Amino acid sequence: MKRIKTEEAKGFPFHYPSNASVVTSAHEGKRNCIAVSRHAWFAFKPPMYGVGIGSNKHTCELIRGSGEFVVNWLPFDWVTTIAACGSKSGRDVDKFSEFDIETSDPLVVSAPVLNGVYAAYECRVESEHSVGDSTWFAGHIVAVHYDEEVFDETLQMKKLNPILWLSRETYAKADNPRIFRVDRRALTVEEM
Ligand SMILES: Cc1cc2nc3c(=O)[nH]c(=O)nc-3n(C[C@H](O)[C@H](O)[C@H](O)COP(=O)(O)O)c2cc1C
Repeated sequence: MKRIKTEEAKGFPFHYPSNASVVTSAHEGKRNCIAVSRHAWFAFKPPMYGVGIGSNKHTCELIRGSGEFVVNWLPFDWVTTIAACGSKSGRDVDKFSEFDIETSDPLVVSAPVLNGVYAAYECRVESEHSVGDSTWFAGHIVAVHYDEEVFDETLQMKKLNPILWLSRETYAKADNPRIFRVDRRALTVEEM
């Protein structure tokens, strides 16, 4: 291994892959969808999820206006949908009609859930945090959607390939993954 050390953090793909998602939002008759790799589980009690959105993005206005968002996770077959949601601003086009993105009804919030998701979190914004050029929205998860055929405590990656994004235009599909159970106390490793 040849490790580089540098104080230059311009374009830093080193922490990827990320399970890329589509965040949907809706406000005053407008709705939008955006590709989002910056998302994280913020808290267990209450269940909180966070998304990091560029402060100049159209999505930022809609989430701030409505106080709601939905995080949608799609199988790898939908990779071009993710790329499409990250290709244009909803200020200029209706990405749902331009890219034939079909939606279904949410349970609690007003932002749509994408058809084809294997999981989605409906969130109500509890707080927002300005961080550099971005805004992080911390959302209380008020409803979840999931495909019970691909979850058994955890996502069954032998049944479903998530969309792993490696930054820029590069994605990875984990075909035939090997899955392990690692006991955190005994430090034993068992292939499942
Ligand atoms: C795979 C992927 C991941 C992305 N992740 C983010 C992200 O986490 N946050 C963000 O603000 N933009 C992200 N982008 C860029 C936005 O999706 C893109 O700028 C989008 O067109 C903005 O849409 P909007 O103006 O309609 O909100 C990502 C793009 C791609 C393709």
